[in-house]
Amino acid sequence: MTNTQWAFTQEVHPNPTSIDAIAAHLENPGFGRIFTDHMVTARWTEERGWHDAKVEFRKPFQLDPACAVLHYAQEIFEGMKAYRGAGDSVLLFRPTENARRFQRSAERMAMAPVPEALFIKAVEALVSADKRWIPDGDGSLYLRPFMFASETFLGVRPSKEYIFCVIACPVGPYFKNGNSAVTVWVSDEYTRAAPGGTGAAKCGGNYAASLLAQAQAAEHGCDQVVFLDAVEHRWVEELGGMNIFFSMADGTLVTPPLNGNILPGITRASVIDLARNEGITVEERPYSFDQWCADVASGHLREVFACGTAAVIAGVGRIRHVGGELVIGDGTVGPVTERIRDLLTGIQRGRIDDPLSWVHHA
Ligand code: PLP
Ligand code: COI
Repeated sequence: MTNTQWAFTQEVHPNPTSIDAIAAHLENPGFGRIFTDHMVTARWTEERGWHDAKVEFRKPFQLDPACAVLHYAQEIFEGMKAYRGAGDSVLLFRPTENARRFQRSAERMAMAPVPEALFIKAVEALVSADKRWIPDGDGSLYLRPFMFASETFLGVRPSKEYIFCVIACPVGPYFKNGNSAVTVWVSDEYTRAAPGGTGAAKCGGNYAASLLAQAQAAEHGCDQVVFLDAVEHRWVEELGGMNIFFSMADGTLVTPPLNGNILPGITRASVIDLARNEGITVEERPYSFDQWCADVASGHLREVFACGTAAVIAGVGRIRHVGGELVIGDGTVGPVTERIRDLLTGIQRGRIDDPLSWVHHA
């Protein structure tokens, strides 16, 4: 296969889900519970490079118990969404950015990078095979490209074989309360990533390491955990699965800088561009938890929001930490957050003008 022309073998599904059953699933899809009929796979070996790209019906992998990923966790993934646009169109949001981040994650985890064209074609092939599963209205089809070390061996070195796969699930809102403000827990105990580590890569291990902190957040009645930096335990970095923005009384937006420890979110980058396009000053700079508390107390901090593909733009109404609880503004979603959410979702769904040409027709 050449890098410019990826041909996918297409399997004929023996028993596709009926239109009525899909409609029932799409009524209340939740998040990450329902999966579509197909998946796309491709394989990499040292001898053959990327080969055997297929659209197949969704089924379990057969893995040897010594499969490398089960022992050394060489695994990376992406998260993106397909939207139903006007007429019969299907829209993807900045898929090239996901393809590029997937390559950077692969490089950090010493894995074979998936060529950009293969990544995009794979996503398009799955969206085309499972178009019936894209919800109308405010739902979307969440796409999960991922890759894992598939060589059968024990010994710590990069695998010599990889499987790349894309699966999809129709989704509604990520948080149970839809677009209402969420509450976050600032972890005093755990950190997510340290300098020189894998924080900027979207690898499964980062999420495994975050689960206990996320469980503590849930025990404290919170929707998400906020991680502070690993060295001083002082600087706000990001949430378990989202980046974070602070909206100040003087109109500026502040967000932690890409310091190598946080995930360079595509939503984060888009919010920065959209806000600047709206004439809002955006500062990417370190912001401490102490300052956050002081700014809430003084009223300088007006709004906080989290952002990511799954969560979209989620207003943060309350923060809890070992010292107690702080309410941001009146605890509800503020006007800046609403404005940014409307702009972003309007563009993603093809409902408003796309000034930066981010929408890709699948
Ligand atoms: N930070 C983390 C840890 C994430 O898991 C995500 C979601 O993918 C993000 C930030 C936001 O990234 P994106 O906007 O590209 O979805
Ligand atoms: C995403 O936003 O796509 C993620 O992967 C994060 C996770 C919270 C679902």
